[in-house]
Amino acid sequence: MKFFLDTANLDEIREAASWGILDGVTTNPSLVQKEGKTFQWLIEEICRMVNGPVSAEVVSTDTAGMIQEGQDLAHIHPHVTVKIPFIKAGIPAVRRLSEKGIPVNVTLIFSPLQALMAAKVGASFVSPFVGRLDDIAHDGMALVGQIVEIFGNYDFNTEVLVASCRNPLHILEAARMGAGVATMPFKVLEQMIHHPLTDLGLKKFLEDWEKIPKELRTASAVKV
Ligand code: G3P
Repeated sequence: MKFFLDTANLDEIREAASWGILDGVTTNPSLVQKEGKTFQWLIEEICRMVNGPVSAEVVSTDTAGMIQEGQDLAHIHPHVTVKIPFIKAGIPAVRRLSEKGIPVNVTLIFSPLQALMAAKVGASFVSPFVGRLDDIAHDGMALVGQIVEIFGNYDFNTEVLVASCRNPLHILEAARMGAGVATMPFKVLEQMIHHPLTDLGLKKFLEDWEKIPKELRTASAVKV
């Protein structure tokens, strides 16, 4: 399962990349707006830091505009995946860009049939937004389950990219369902590391180590 970071913050991306656990990054206009930097520069920097797909979203809402923007974004760096919202005008844009060999992440997916249609026109990724469904008392992870089941019935190369993840349970459920990718805020990635029993266990090990006389702590002082 691939872990993507859902952020445009360079410090967060740099840190997660340094852990060796980062497979890609997803951005959207809201995340880019928070950073106050030039869009193209930001995407280029992210692509240099991450050895994997970096989603950059178009803002056109007509087919020709989305295709043009998608091509321009793809020219920024080979790591760019063009993010296209699932609207009617986006469907032929996904088809055209995919046929040109440009990977597309179809975003704002809220139903399994939207995901199926996106896969049929060649999307590399579909992004169901689980947190936003949970927000309105719909089961976001149930949507992921349906998409994984449908894709398993056919021969699509489209990966399920679970998006709008708000907590570690979303990632756990996504992994159990066999989703190919989860994209998460940096905070969620950090939450997944910590367990109180790990911290307590380490504290006890180190306390006990201190009780061993210093001359017995090195390999050369080992006595049998
Ligand atoms: O990847 C999609 C994501 O950015 C949406 O997350 O938390 O704004 O619903 P959120």
